Amino acid sequence: MLNVVIFGAPGSGKGTQSELIIKEYGLDHISTGDVLRGEMKAETELGKIAKDYIEKGQLVPDELIVDMLANVLDSKKPAKGVIFDGFPRTIPQAKALKKMLNERGTDVSVMLNLQVEEEELIKRLLERGKVSGRSDDNLETIKSRLDVYHTQTAPLADYYVGEGKHVAIKGMGTIEEIFDRVKEAINNVK
Ligand code: AP5
Ligand code: MG
Repeated sequence: MLNVVIFGAPGSGKGTQSELIIKEYGLDHISTGDVLRGEMKAETELGKIAKDYIEKGQLVPDELIVDMLANVLDSKKPAKGVIFDGFPRTIPQAKALKKMLNERGTDVSVMLNLQVEEEELIKRLLERGKVSGRSDDNLETIKSRLDVYHTQTAPLADYYVGEGKHVAIKGMGTIEEIFDRVKEAINNVK
């Protein structure tokens, strides 16, 4: 199986590159952000809890996310592999993912770390905020998301360096240019 973790700051292009990866490699896509927004829309218990965190730009607690991910994983038919978008975001989540995949006889194949300059991230997210309807695409929440990314999520890069799975990808340039770099990295582990 080909299991790809797509990693990077808010606005780094995780969702955009995931769509292209799915088409090219036929993987399933799990975006924890999309799942949470679905729960919010359906006004489930989890959605109601998540809403407060998301609107403040904070991370939803690990236990809730890990349980949610296990359920989503079990609901999928066996595929060629999965692209994990926006998960893991903390060391405990990364360890939980490894355990879940090992229990299913597989593991993370590669972690792609999209690297984008801060100014560009803010520009992209403010631009998207004009049309996305996402309650977290406003300057105040964007700043908090970036802060949370730097303090809680970015340190995960070292965890995947330790696992021998980390590949840095320059995330600046056109979507196609970046996808060429992504393909090169995936083809190296296939
Ligand atoms: P999540 O939905 O994962 O949001 P995020 O990480 O903040 O990232 P985005 O989805 O905003 O950006 P992206 O990297 O996908 O970029 P995109 O491709 O859209 O999480 C939201 C919230 O949910 C979190 O803050 C947290 O509260 C909670 N949450 C989610 N997962 C969690 C977890 N595991 N644990 C705890 N809490 C969790 O691109 C952005 C924009 O730029 C788009 O408009 C796109 O068209 C444009 N763009 C893309 N590439 C380019 C390019 N090359 N050039 C120009 N524009 C581009
Ligand atoms: Mg996204």
